[in-house]
Amino acid sequence: MQETPRHAANGKGLDVGTAFVYCAEKQGNKISFRTQRDAFFDIEYSDFTKEMLTTSKVNYIQKDEKLYVVGDEAIKFANIFNKNARRPLSKGIISPSEREALPMIELIIKSVVGKPKYKGEIVYYSIPGPPVDVDFNIVYHEKVVHGFLTKLGYTPKSINEGLAVVFSELDKDGFTGIGLSFGGGMVNMCLSYMSVPIFTFSISKAGDWIDQQVAMAVDETASRICAIKESTLDLTKYVGLSKIETALSIYYDNLIEYVLENIKREFGRTKKMPRIDKPITVVLSGGSALPKGFLDRFKGVLAKVRFPLEIGEVRVASESQYSVAKGALIAAMAEEEKR
Ligand SMILES: Nc1ncnc2c1ncn2[C@@H]1O[C@H](COP(=O)(O)OP(=O)(O)OP(=O)(O)O)[C@@H](O)[C@H]1O
Ligand SMILES: [Mg+2]
Repeated sequence: MQETPRHAANGKGLDVGTAFVYCAEKQGNKISFRTQRDAFFDIEYSDFTKEMLTTSKVNYIQKDEKLYVVGDEAIKFANIFNKNARRPLSKGIISPSEREALPMIELIIKSVVGKPKYKGEIVYYSIPGPPVDVDFNIVYHEKVVHGFLTKLGYTPKSINEGLAVVFSELDKDGFTGIGLSFGGGMVNMCLSYMSVPIFTFSISKAGDWIDQQVAMAVDETASRICAIKESTLDLTKYVGLSKIETALSIYYDNLIEYVLENIKREFGRTKKMPRIDKPITVVLSGGSALPKGFLDRFKGVLAKVRFPLEIGEVRVASESQYSVAKGALIAAMAEEEKR
């Protein structure tokens, strides 16, 4: 009988995203996930409200004359007050100009990742690839997240978001193919050959952009559009759509076109293009890949784009919102086993 490796269940995977923070951890034979919305909402301070939040076990921070409700509850508060919740991250990163939000993201990360099982446990956390359509760099973001995790007692290591998708979803393809994560703030892409990332980058439009565009088109708050999108959107439907559904359908197609055009352009520019002798698999993941019909929409646009690589199978990851955290966990467990 094979012996279970001593650190088999050690290591964690953390997906620090614009819309959600996810943590993946192995428990027995299963991978378990914890999630929080990456959001906060401020309310006026009163002793009574503070007491109510504490007894209801809501995560909050008290600062100046305000109480900041953090995580999942922030969205509930925002919807009740018919306002937008605020986000500590924008387009995939904590920007240096959003210092005010640092305690919020720290609390969200802490509540999702928990304490290490032992001092120095390895946690892999996701970072976006270099953006192709906006001008920023991720150094500050990476260092801040690294600092929070070190403070909690972990040994943090970063992994590219697209590569994490490859680790989690392309094992049967020998870790060769394209991993795509359609998130809230951005779309991340990694072209990998036998688990080696050849090419990674990010595109700064995704689910949030859809919410904002639709909100503008139909004069609603982005939070409300987001709630409708997440609960009822069906992209297989083209007729009998409401005004909001019509706008969601249009902007989904628009996003996919934008992403594929950007990938095509970047592939055209690179000198690193590999010569892979068989059609490559594309796997789609992330929260924005969840609606029914997303795969067919993607395939429809792909068929129209003259893509520079021969594409074989295109599929959606089974629990697509968890792919990045799972891939980060795989990286962490592999390294824990070597210890
Ligand atoms: N069932 C659903 N249908 C449609 N969209 C959804 C659904 N569930 C979540 N989303 C959308 O997915 C996006 C979040 O996806 P994900 O959790 O992969 O992003 P993230 O990792 O937080 O962000 P990023 O990778 O861009 O930093 C949001 O725009 C959210 O509204
Ligand atoms: Mg993400």
